[in-house]
Amino acid sequence: MPADLYDVISRRRDVRTQFTGEPVDEEILLRVLGAAHAAPSVGLTQPWDFVLVRNLELRRRFQQHVAEERDTFARALSGERAATFARISVEGVLQASLGVVVTYDPERGAPAVLGRHAIADTGLYSTCLAIQNLWLATTAEGLGVGWVSFYREPFLQDLLGIPEHVRPVGWLCLGPVTHLEETPDLERHGWRQRRPLEDAVHVDRYRAPEPSTAGAAVHSSPRAVEGRQAAS
Ligand SMILES: Cc1cc2nc3c(=O)[nH]c(=O)nc-3n(C[C@H](O)[C@H](O)[C@H](O)COP(=O)(O)O)c2cc1C
Repeated sequence: MPADLYDVISRRRDVRTQFTGEPVDEEILLRVLGAAHAAPSVGLTQPWDFVLVRNLELRRRFQQHVAEERDTFARALSGERAATFARISVEGVLQASLGVVVTYDPERGAPAVLGRHAIADTGLYSTCLAIQNLWLATTAEGLGVGWVSFYREPFLQDLLGIPEHVRPVGWLCLGPVTHLEETPDLERHGWRQRRPLEDAVHVDRYRAPEPSTAGAAVHSSPRAVEGRQAAS
């Protein structure tokens, strides 16, 4: 497998506009789905499924629904937020080679799911870990993924024949890309900046964020975190 893990983690990006639309090699697709399927899961339930959406008409209908949901969100914005959001693309449904809809089935392995009795969300967490495995594997393979969540779950259930108790967790646009950006799109377009690592690390007790550093786009070194720990 190409590339070192940390390198893949830092190169991974959410892709919207860089898809080429070229077909994905079937062997590579199976490898990245295998990586997703190797994720940890609560009680070894493996509660995910992967619906590969290749049909153009289905993708067109989904894309139309996403456009409506985008409008719904946009209508709630005003001023600078509205102007900034207008410049941001939120999906590459038709530009990507295919869609991969990842679902969560809470009934798999139920009722005695080992580890889920106190925290029901652990099943969803497991599904998200599968998605992250898939996302990193596609990056390692030189492909791109874009997670789309601008949809209503009943619409997607109906579109793909997903049973009522099974939740569609995300529509992943997947395929070859021209390149991966170094900076997240939302940061490039001035929507929001990444937090410094030291703001996210707490020692012994959760502390309130310090307003002076909130929103700063700084990539912290472990040394900076050590400094914060020593000062506290
Ligand atoms: C649960 C989840 C839902 C997301 N939904 C969307 C979406 O609907 N549209 C979109 O353009 N990006 C979506 N994203 C991508 C995020 O905007 C992106 O991960 C974030 O801006 C950081 O950029 P990066 O992934 O390139 O590091 C989603 C990401 C996650 C984890």
